[in-house]
Amino acid sequence: MTLKNWCAALVISAGAVSAAIAQSDFPPSANSKQAAPRLVEVMSMAQLQHLKLWHAGKAGNWDLAAYELRQLTNSLAEAAIFYPAIPISNVTTMKEPLLSIADAIAAGDNRKFAVSMRGLTDGCNACHASMGRGFITISVPTGGQPPANQIFSPSESGKKK
Ligand code: HEC
Repeated sequence: MTLKNWCAALVISAGAVSAAIAQSDFPPSANSKQAAPRLVEVMSMAQLQHLKLWHAGKAGNWDLAAYELRQLTNSLAEAAIFYPAIPISNVTTMKEPLLSIADAIAAGDNRKFAVSMRGLTDGCNACHASMGRGFITISVPTGGQPPANQIFSPSESGKKK
């Protein structure tokens, strides 16, 4: 499945989580109990994925960016599926920016990537505002240090030809 189809399928389909688990390279043990993560855990994960997505795109590491976009899409789908109190419309509005980021990654288009990331970030904040969490304001990183424990430049084999 292309990255774009993945984003579309996960965000709009109610079977998103089972699809995500089915498609993971590392499925959980058959004995594991499927406990729902706390919503703040899913969101804290989304925050880190959003940050890494940004730095990977900025560094032109499109393989890593594609990977982080998948993880972030999974997190948003999980939030919607485990927490039905979240209005589904607030999740589906994320679809356009996610697709747009997928396009930018496929094209290796820095400008489109940055614009689409801002659109996505507005979507994060719109949902927070609508759910009495307007004080949680996400932004694209404004300069400063990326997570200092990960290297974001692509390795030789990860560079686009
Ligand atoms: C569809 C709604 C929705 C969307 C979209 C959404 N969030 Fe959230 N987010 C929430 C809700 C609701 C909470 C509050 C959870 C709580 O208080 O238990 C939250 C909380 C958070 C928190 C606080 C967690 C903490 O413990 O500090 C962060 C960070 C966060 N979201 C990041 C993001 C990011 C980044 C995005 C976009 C990529 C995003 N969220 C998109 C609904 C959403």
